[in-house]
Amino acid sequence: MDKIRVHGGHPLSGSIKVSGSKNSSLPILAATLLTREPCVVHGVPDLSDTHYMLQILMHLGAQVERASGTVSVTAEKVHSVAPYDIVRKMRASVCVLGPSLGRCKEATVALPGGCVIGDRPIDLHLKGFEALGAAVRVEGGDIKVFAPKLKGAVINMQGKFGPTVLGTDNIMMAAVLADGVTVIEGPAQEPEVVDLANFLNEMGAKIEGAGTRRIVIEGVPALHGAEHWVIPDRIEAGTFLVAGAMAGEGVTVKRVEPEHVRAVTDALARCGYAVDIGDDSITILPNGEATAQDLVTEPYPGFPTDMQAQMCALLSTSRGTSSVTENIFPRRYMHVAELKRLGAKLRLEGATAVIDGVDRLLGAPVMASDLRASAALVLAGLKADGTTEVSRVYHIDRGYEHLDEKLMELGAHIERVKET
Ligand code: EPZ
Repeated sequence: MDKIRVHGGHPLSGSIKVSGSKNSSLPILAATLLTREPCVVHGVPDLSDTHYMLQILMHLGAQVERASGTVSVTAEKVHSVAPYDIVRKMRASVCVLGPSLGRCKEATVALPGGCVIGDRPIDLHLKGFEALGAAVRVEGGDIKVFAPKLKGAVINMQGKFGPTVLGTDNIMMAAVLADGVTVIEGPAQEPEVVDLANFLNEMGAKIEGAGTRRIVIEGVPALHGAEHWVIPDRIEAGTFLVAGAMAGEGVTVKRVEPEHVRAVTDALARCGYAVDIGDDSITILPNGEATAQDLVTEPYPGFPTDMQAQMCALLSTSRGTSSVTENIFPRRYMHVAELKRLGAKLRLEGATAVIDGVDRLLGAPVMASDLRASAALVLAGLKADGTTEVSRVYHIDRGYEHLDEKLMELGAHIERVKET
């Protein structure tokens, strides 16, 4: 296993290009199962999560070719059983359920299990499949869904913690080939859901309202191949903007959709940073110390849970006392104990982290636990005096395309070393 060694105190400057969105690529790659014709997807980031998705597609019988960021998939003959030994590596594998059910009228996917950010139920996905006429069985650790025929239905995607992103994706992908009209009430409105809907429409689906509170899907007999560019990764963009805020002398992220990052740029502006927004770039300028603020994570367009850990790192060195409340994954605070090892002062009160800003952080060995917490620890290391070693960086490699190399391009003194 690798670890990343960060030597703090070196200012960042310059610009980086944002990669294609991981959370768009995964469902879009799964959607290629819905047609026997070739699909070409551009801008797929080079990550372990996208590699796992390609492994699943090949296991299901699709032909897959990858040339740097372009992936070609032809799912001419596919079966619909995704085994545990692949699914356990990435819980987002659950998003092959919808297209497999839509194409094959049956699907078996190992139950993904939970992860460090919390129990990851899929009850809303299964409720949606049943509404479309599928029978759902959970046995032997597998989810089995089957439906001789899928019929359009009205489905509500709201759960205790708001809408479900992959659940909305799954129901859309099952409904596009159903008989009749499906209405999804209260769907997730994330840009990645809109990107998937756009890809499905390019394949011949009839989906309206993606990104709004109501999606209407008119079933069609079949879908054809399509070519698509994945949207920029808004969480990667946000992560680099926070890096620029914490340790930058002027950092620009390029090839970004500013509207997708608005909740983050608004939060950084509230911290007192000058944020210069262009058509497809955003520049953040230093302002000394951030001012404290109270932050709440919400479904899009609210502040994203995937940026919560990064903001905890930033607010740890702000002036005053801040609070961060996690409404999507209330246990998503694995980074708190590690940030405290760097001298940050945080305490948890239920799903709220109360952060007393400190003047300086001191480098120390810390351990990555989940994708975004790991990135937050690297950002804290950029700001800390001395050296911070982040172990188990395979978490970072799941969701960030060459994070350390991109930070090096901005002037960070950072190296990847083999964990002895
Ligand atoms: C997607 O996960 C993202 N992953 C996550 O990003 C992101 O944090 C999350 O959406 C929220 O925005 C991908 O897109 C691959 P949810 P997803 O279903 O779809 C509860 C990252 O760092 N829920 O929207 O699995 C659930 O427990 C990852 O890139 C149910 O109760 O998340 C959570 O509390 C981490 N029942 C809330 O809803 C269900 O059936 C939102 O979960 C489904 C979800």
